[in-house]
Amino acid sequence: MIRKAVLPVAGLGTRMLPATKAIPKEMLCLINKPVVQYIVEEAVAAGIRDIIFVVSRGKESLLDHFDLDPELEAELEAKGKEDLLAEVRRTSTLVENLSAVRQKKPLGLGHAILMAAPLVGNEPFGVLLGDDVVDGEEPALGQLIRVAEELRASVIAVERMPREEIHRYGVISGAEVREGLYRIEEVVEKPRPEEAPSDLAILGRYVFFPEIFAYLEKTPPGAGGEIQLTDAVSAMVRDGHPVYALEIKGTRYDTGNPEGFIKATLALALKDPQLGPKVRQFLRAWL
Ligand code: UTP
Repeated sequence: MIRKAVLPVAGLGTRMLPATKAIPKEMLCLINKPVVQYIVEEAVAAGIRDIIFVVSRGKESLLDHFDLDPELEAELEAKGKEDLLAEVRRTSTLVENLSAVRQKKPLGLGHAILMAAPLVGNEPFGVLLGDDVVDGEEPALGQLIRVAEELRASVIAVERMPREEIHRYGVISGAEVREGLYRIEEVVEKPRPEEAPSDLAILGRYVFFPEIFAYLEKTPPGAGGEIQLTDAVSAMVRDGHPVYALEIKGTRYDTGNPEGFIKATLALALKDPQLGPKVRQFLRAWL
């Protein structure tokens, strides 16, 4: 049973500056919830009970968001605002066990995950990146967990990307073992379009078995002086560990850049039963 998930949220969020000068990018608001809440809801729906945030300075609001707020609750109760009270309580009870570790310097995603090793211990765990929101019927992490438990191996979420966009992602190649599932042979971080080994781009959901930590420990800094998760995965694959890639059913929005953020806002608003018709009407007037 996979019960723990790591959420690395210690990055600088430079692509969303100046919004992210004083506010973590994961706390930016999509409709009426911060981005991180969509991600935590996905994890909880996938059966996760322990969430370990990897934080840096100034990210306290992320933890506060999922904590109890007795004053606010008392205020809403006194004013008879039952719906809001229920929503606030739901948020603060969403995560059964919430903990945080610090990444003192932004030394990369691989380094951030390594910081969580003492809290994860010797068991498989999920990783959800704080800017990828995945909208779909079944939680993306849940799709990975099912395969990881069946194959007793690490599984990484991927999606097909147009060639002209592939250079922004980690890209895998491998043998298809069944529809949409690949045994990874190669992982390349941000390849040039002509060097990409396939059109299967990694998105921010993973399930790892604990051997990943030993590989992260010996991974030297790579591109940008950061310890790259993809380098550690490559080394694991080279040593013969089975690592799989699963094409996720659902739509991913990268809320870490303005274009992706707007697309996520519009898509979620158009799907919303109350907002949808009004937003559609508003957009029609502009098009
Ligand atoms: P990104 O590169 O997308 O996030 O890292 P970033 O560094 O915050 O954003 P930009 O590129 O400057 O705009 C993917 C995920 O890994 C986390 C980030 O918080 C993000 O969720 N991360 C990245 C860390 O926790 N620590 C790091 O050192 C780097």
